[in-house]
Amino acid sequence: MHKNLTVVDHPLVLHKLTLMRDKHTPSAVFRQLLREISLLLAYEVLRDLPTTTKTIDTPMTEREAPILKGKKLVFASILRAGNGLLDGLLDLVPSARVGHIGLYRDPESLTAIEYYLKMPDSLSERRVILVDPMLATANSASAAASRLKEVGAEDIKFLCLLSAPEGIEAFSNAHPDVQIYTAAIDSHLNEHGYIVPGLGDAGDRMYGTK
Ligand code: PRP
Ligand code: URA
Repeated sequence: MHKNLTVVDHPLVLHKLTLMRDKHTPSAVFRQLLREISLLLAYEVLRDLPTTTKTIDTPMTEREAPILKGKKLVFASILRAGNGLLDGLLDLVPSARVGHIGLYRDPESLTAIEYYLKMPDSLSERRVILVDPMLATANSASAAASRLKEVGAEDIKFLCLLSAPEGIEAFSNAHPDVQIYTAAIDSHLNEHGYIVPGLGDAGDRMYGTK
């Protein structure tokens, strides 16, 4: 097990993931499940957020109480499928800043092609949570993490739902400083770079495309 890997194998996560893997699950339910799972995964990813205290008055007394410290978080979504995780994360942390990076995998070479980038300012002062449900070859996640670093991010975590051993290896080698959070590690990649058993193409499952 890599030291920069956290597997969030909570029974509720695994139950919902099983429903998502089922090819008979329709897009609307798939999206809803992804949103629900993102809340559970967020609990682990955000566990070590720094806190400070402020003085408040409860109805009974004054006290020092914990609040989040520092500049607002950034959720950076890899388009398209990252948006499925992003929606749930924003339910939990509505004040977070949001960045988008548009990437698609070239079907032949499986390399990641960038078509869009928009990030909030002051990235170097913020924790950045990079999100994409699938870590297959890791070409997309690695390219996204490199791009985030190029535009200033220094404190990055990567949240995905499903990963392949090949992707974990490749991402850990490329970005040993970035902790990976995943719900499950599947068996392997097939000859087209798809995770087996996996759940198919996450973007297509979410949006009903082929
Ligand atoms: C999927 C997925 C990841 C990527 C993972 O996106 O959402 O971004 O593949 O594969 P990798 O680890 O081998 O790079 P895809 O390229 O299909 O784009 P889409 O989300 O727009 O459908
Ligand atoms: N991207 C997906 O959406 N699914 C896979 O299995 C691999 C890459």
